Amino acid sequence: MPATSLEQIVSLAKRRGFVFPSSAVYGGLGSTWDYGPLGVELKNNVKRAWWRSVVYDRDDMEGLDAAILMNRLVWKYSGHEKTFADPMTDCRNCKSRPRADHVFVSQKGRDPKGLDEINVAIAAKELKCPKCGATDLTEARPFNLMFRTTVGAVDTGDDSGLAYLRPETAQGIFVNFGNVLDTMRRKLPFGVAQIGKAFRNEITPGNFTFRTREFEQMEIEYFVRPGEDEAAHQSWIDARTQWYVDLGMRRENLRQREQAKEELAHYAKRCVDLEYKFPMGWSELEGIANRTDYDLKAHSRSPENPDAVGELKYFDQEQKKHIVPYVIEPSAGADRATLAFLCDAFDESLVKEPPAEETTKLRDLVLSFAKSVDKKDPKAFDPEAKARLVAAAEKIAAGLPGTLPELLALSDDEAANKIEVFKKVRGVSEKLGEEFTRTVLRLHPRLAPITVAVFPLKKNEPRLVEMARGVKKDLQAAGLRAVYDDTGAIGKLYRRQDEIGTPFCITVDFQSLEDKTVTVRDRDTMGQERVGAGELGGALRAKVG
Ligand code: GAP
Repeated sequence: MPATSLEQIVSLAKRRGFVFPSSAVYGGLGSTWDYGPLGVELKNNVKRAWWRSVVYDRDDMEGLDAAILMNRLVWKYSGHEKTFADPMTDCRNCKSRPRADHVFVSQKGRDPKGLDEINVAIAAKELKCPKCGATDLTEARPFNLMFRTTVGAVDTGDDSGLAYLRPETAQGIFVNFGNVLDTMRRKLPFGVAQIGKAFRNEITPGNFTFRTREFEQMEIEYFVRPGEDEAAHQSWIDARTQWYVDLGMRRENLRQREQAKEELAHYAKRCVDLEYKFPMGWSELEGIANRTDYDLKAHSRSPENPDAVGELKYFDQEQKKHIVPYVIEPSAGADRATLAFLCDAFDESLVKEPPAEETTKLRDLVLSFAKSVDKKDPKAFDPEAKARLVAAAEKIAAGLPGTLPELLALSDDEAANKIEVFKKVRGVSEKLGEEFTRTVLRLHPRLAPITVAVFPLKKNEPRLVEMARGVKKDLQAAGLRAVYDDTGAIGKLYRRQDEIGTPFCITVDFQSLEDKTVTVRDRDTMGQERVGAGELGGALRAKVG
């Protein structure tokens, strides 16, 4: 069963060392996350797979790693200083600060024509605070999303040392267009790929690592002759979609969404979003835009830009003249892709039926939980959470034991945990879950944090331990991420590795000592085969691809 809520993913991620809340020892910092030992491996593998696909496997791409801090003028002429802002309004009644355009869209059923139209509606008391319903909203003002900092030891009090933490990696590529072109002696079409941190002071971060204020982007700027842009755009849309599928993402969970004309950024001719069906609904994974010649022109010396030192252009040998290339931009988020792969890989299912009396006991407990929620005063308990929990509990009770994985998912629900009887439900379901369910992360072998785990059948048998450690060392030497573990019975060790997505487990047993073969167990089929220890490295490398 796939994840039904993001909480299941958050819980697994925390429990098994993928992602931790940042600075938790001081109470955390809202919506900032640290990647733990397994998370950093997973995210690095995502970034490596992207780089391999868009740089190494192609002949028309180069890489770049531009600085995060850039001359402030980059952000002036890119348009970010003026336009990279969300319109915010304050509710004088409940002191919340909603996004004014979202309030307008949800209450008027259409996009506003601009800030003025929003403010006319606010002044006419036509818009209500989405939190408390009051019509006492302040005039909407643009709130710039760029983080400001000061460069240099002295804070002069004016803006002379002002710099921004880059809100996208793209501009670092545009301003290096000439450098890459000249040093790599490239001809059109060619592209530049970059992976790096970006920062946005998002008003409404959330949904775990989906929207944060500090994140990593994987961006490509692909330069083409005007006229060849539309075909190149379509080819990148296809290639980028296929990348996710090749790494195991289920096609039915991935879709291409054509942006409507009204949605397009002012510089874009066309934009297609790749969306993933996250537990919270279809949401953007990556945007693939045709940005025309907007950016290269914006950073070129002209009457509109007297600060640029030169022009970003290309001498076209065929036409014997300078042209300004068009740009196709596939722009992905490394954190979002990592989260999507995690969600897609998550699978929790019942592997055998618990005894009937255990199921009956659990069903009664779940029903008494539903009753207890139902009795809660809606003034004291969020009415939405109340309705959701009662419906979920009744559905789970009717479907037990098959719905045990759904009940386990509820263990991560904050509202459910506020109900006293849920402690009991949780205790019983977790005990049954241990024995009768299996959680597997079906990650592509190339993405899995650990590729292979090696166990000795018995940890108190020195010859088995020695051989298992040797096998692990050989696998490491073959370039595989391999670990040794002897901290539990083999069944328990398999279970732990399944939960973190390790595709292969190897057991060294007494037969191994005699014929130098080991058992290779496949995470997905749970099938086992004997393979010669000397052939393991090559065999597993071939499976990883
Ligand atoms: N240069 C174009 C650009 O930056 P974008 O749609 O704003 O376009 C591209 O961002 C990708 O970066 C998004 O599709 C998403 O994957 C990722 N991204 C953007 N904002 C993010 C945030 N606050 N947290 C995590 N990822 C984010």
